[in-house]
Amino acid sequence: MAEEKTRGRRIAVLAALSAAVLAVSTIAVVAGNSLSAASHDAAAPVAAENLDPGDSDVLSEAQAKARDRALRQAENARIRGMLGPDVSPEDFVPDEPTEPITTDGRDIDCRHLKCVALTFDDGPGAQTDRLLRMLADAGALATWFPLGEVVADSPDRLRAIAEAGHEIGNHSWSHPQLTASSNGQIETQINRTARLIERLLGTRPTLVRPPYGAISKRVAAELGRLNAPAVLWDVDPLDWKYRNSTRVYRSVMSQVQPGSIVLLHDVHPTTVAAVPRILKSLANRGYTFVTVSELFGNELTPGQIYLDRAEAYRPD
Ligand code: NI
Repeated sequence: MAEEKTRGRRIAVLAALSAAVLAVSTIAVVAGNSLSAASHDAAAPVAAENLDPGDSDVLSEAQAKARDRALRQAENARIRGMLGPDVSPEDFVPDEPTEPITTDGRDIDCRHLKCVALTFDDGPGAQTDRLLRMLADAGALATWFPLGEVVADSPDRLRAIAEAGHEIGNHSWSHPQLTASSNGQIETQINRTARLIERLLGTRPTLVRPPYGAISKRVAAELGRLNAPAVLWDVDPLDWKYRNSTRVYRSVMSQVQPGSIVLLHDVHPTTVAAVPRILKSLANRGYTFVTVSELFGNELTPGQIYLDRAEAYRPD
């Protein structure tokens, strides 16, 4: 399958910035065109770059730090080519859920638990059954972002993933770069895959992982129109490039933090072979393996860009 031409990068979702931007929203210029403003009851987030430096006087130290971090990370993301020049911090700063969430019998609040969301792209594949057994042995849930054209060839594999309780998202039909696709092409790629999965599982997937992680304000807005949150990642071991289990394992372990979303590809045997060690080491460090929706308390907003939920983590 098409390889992820992802660049190594670490971008934290600036969840904590939500509080900061809400706190200063009365004294700062409200950024226009917030992608998710229509679906938010709270005040629209403010782009960090629109904050006047003089506003630091009214920010707490933590809020000022969060703002500075937002600016740095947006700039880093741009340099690394993942976010288009038009994507600003408020596009990937989700509003924080205010109440603990209970999901499907799992009472999980990733603001206080060390959560990690393992995600598997481009499949399912020949390794998927083996991977499902590994996850079951560890009592771990994960999230798949399958390609429609692959699912069409192996519907039973997708059913097995869903029956094991894992989350199913949407990685497009044939892995095009959405930033180079028209809105009409994006709609076809997403909806064709979603319809197939809905026909197989009875549930329409909403989470979308854009191929290559390539996203722009226009793509995010189109995904919003299609009722899809955009799920990226903060941990990328480049497993499509380094077909070495030990390297994949070490790379994940060196990057992961509470609230991380880990990008993996279960179409590579070397990746799947690394999973037992990843599961064991993370469990030993106190991590809970959650689905992407669980990580965000089932409150993901269509059109919003999610990279991780690290900023929200506050150990008890
Ligand atoms: Ni992919």
